[in-house]
Amino acid sequence: MRVPAAGELPLPPFELASRVGSLEDYDDPTAVYEIFGKAIKDDIVAGLPKGYSLEGRRILDFGCGAGRTLRHFITEDVGAELWGCDIDGPSIEWLKGNLVPPLNVFLNGEVPPLDQADGKFDLIYCVSVFSHLTRHWAEWLLELHRLLKPDGLLLATVMGRGLSESIAHEDWDEDRVGMMVLAPGQAWSAGGPMVFHSPWWLRAHWGRAFDIVSLGESGFAVPDPDNGQGLVVMRRKDVQLRPEDLRRVADDPREAGALDHNVDRLMGELEALRPQLSDLSDSLAAERAQAEPQVVPTPQSPRRSLRNASAWRALISRRGAAPGSRGSDPPPS
Ligand SMILES: C[S@@+](CC[C@H](N)C(=O)[O-])C[C@H]1O[C@@H](n2cnc3c(N)ncnc32)[C@H](O)[C@@H]1O
Repeated sequence: MRVPAAGELPLPPFELASRVGSLEDYDDPTAVYEIFGKAIKDDIVAGLPKGYSLEGRRILDFGCGAGRTLRHFITEDVGAELWGCDIDGPSIEWLKGNLVPPLNVFLNGEVPPLDQADGKFDLIYCVSVFSHLTRHWAEWLLELHRLLKPDGLLLATVMGRGLSESIAHEDWDEDRVGMMVLAPGQAWSAGGPMVFHSPWWLRAHWGRAFDIVSLGESGFAVPDPDNGQGLVVMRRKDVQLRPEDLRRVADDPREAGALDHNVDRLMGELEALRPQLSDLSDSLAAERAQAEPQVVPTPQSPRRSLRNASAWRALISRRGAAPGSRGSDPPPS
């Protein structure tokens, strides 16, 4: 198959392109989507161990959206078999209709497993996925561990130092952040939940299943090295672990303080949400009261008595029965 040149591949509709990173405020959203996708692809490749060749590899983009990154692996013809999966049906449908082949794609559920064989992939990367996974992170990390060949590589971006001020609205202090979950349950259209990781916590927890090859704290796919997400490059360890083995609190004095800080942040979110909820419910009640016709709560409104009376009369005349006989009981309404 001829390798399409950059710019020849079809582009996803705006809603699918914008759900993986808002394009609302740009004059040329297509250019931004393409530039950012290429920067992500370039930084994935730059993160690989020295001398690692993609030729002949089977690669999975876990949480691929509509292929913002994969499209650049296609056009640069890296000689690898390219796979992608996501929980978003419309994104996967679009990929099936537009970039399969050369891609291989499938829809996955909110929780593992994926319908793929053990040890199938040489390399798995996840961009902005673990930075939003709250409840099932350990299950997913072990599922990707299962899918990797022995010595396979996992590359995952994480939020930390580079996004603390802009997203967590606090100065970065790695002593009080382990795995910090903010905005749990937030819709993907609003950016999804936000999860921060500090390097010591990643080494302590993810390091049980993977050797940490390198750990960049910020600068992933952005021009400013102190901004943006970080990239963790990991090599699969030959271990059998359960999710609880990854979650188990590490023997690090920072764990307790980090959990305490996360509880504090979540309580702050709840305290801010409660008054908003109660305002919302008051204004909904007011709107409903205005919209609904006023009904006088009498045991039987005149309209209903009338309907019953006429139905009764109709029944009587159909049956030819006189009031007082069995056929004269008012019909149930
Ligand atoms: C911020 S977007 C990034 C998309 C893509 N990696 C990129 O950089 O263009 C996060 C993606 O992860 C997907 N996602 C979230 N949870 C997932 C899961 N459990 N399995 C697969 N994909 C998931 C979302 O649907 C979304 O497409």
